[in-house]
Amino acid sequence: MSFYESDKAVSEYLLFHYGSAAEVLPYDFGPVDALNYPVRCISECLYPEALPGEGRALDLGCAVGRSSFEFARHFTEVIGIDYSHRFIHAGQTLVAKGQLNYTFRIEGDLEQATVATVPEEINRTRVQFEQGDAMNLRPDLGQFDAVLAANLIDRLPEPKSLLEQFAGMVKPGGQLILTSPYTWLTDYASKEQWLGGQILDGKSIRTIEAVTSILSNNFEMVLRKDLPFLIREHARKFQWSVAEATVWRRKDA
Ligand SMILES: C[S@@+](CC[C@H](N)C(=O)[O-])C[C@H]1O[C@@H](n2cnc3c(N)ncnc32)[C@H](O)[C@@H]1O
Repeated sequence: MSFYESDKAVSEYLLFHYGSAAEVLPYDFGPVDALNYPVRCISECLYPEALPGEGRALDLGCAVGRSSFEFARHFTEVIGIDYSHRFIHAGQTLVAKGQLNYTFRIEGDLEQATVATVPEEINRTRVQFEQGDAMNLRPDLGQFDAVLAANLIDRLPEPKSLLEQFAGMVKPGGQLILTSPYTWLTDYASKEQWLGGQILDGKSIRTIEAVTSILSNNFEMVLRKDLPFLIREHARKFQWSVAEATVWRRKDA
């Protein structure tokens, strides 16, 4: 079974996406600027000049959907797609009810009960979640004014293939938000498929170089920044990571 179908993943990602600061980081010290990552993927990366005021957005690898709901502040139609049935079911419940009860780990078998809540001011009816494969999307998905792929590329078997498909997904003038900590693992992709993190022909390859080379035919980079994030495993264990966020404007056809 994939990690993303497990109880642990559902709990950790609901907390990561919807948890309060006090729930995620119950200390008066620590990396507070790494909180609310799925919100910041939109609030710090969406390129405001290009916003149509309505339009369509796609959140690819949306997990339990917080960035999809944040997209709904700006776009009238938002589609969130994830390979995990459990994550999509959680997202669909949040669309229908606006909240979802869950528990997260304190230590060992000790859990704390809480509720994930979609902010009241967000129009949830703008969002739909569907299970799907980013490597094999349904052909009638259409094009989008904005596409987000947050922490997805290093979890795919053929990340280059997805990067090559973005030009077909983003409307001319639209934007692609790509974030990743570039955690390449052979659990997900063979080394031949890694976009960086290797020495080839005596040269150190960094992921940003490959991403830029693949996307530059159809996109221009409009933003590049570090985006820290914090995933709580239990009250005394966290993953602190620093994603690189790049935002790409689709060149006019
Ligand atoms: C590291 S998580 C990131 C989730 C979310 N974007 C975030 O930033 O919290 C990777 C996500 O990609 C999803 N995923 C993995 N392979 C996928 C695929 N082929 N198609 C769609 N989603 C996939 C996983 O289920 C998981 O939700």
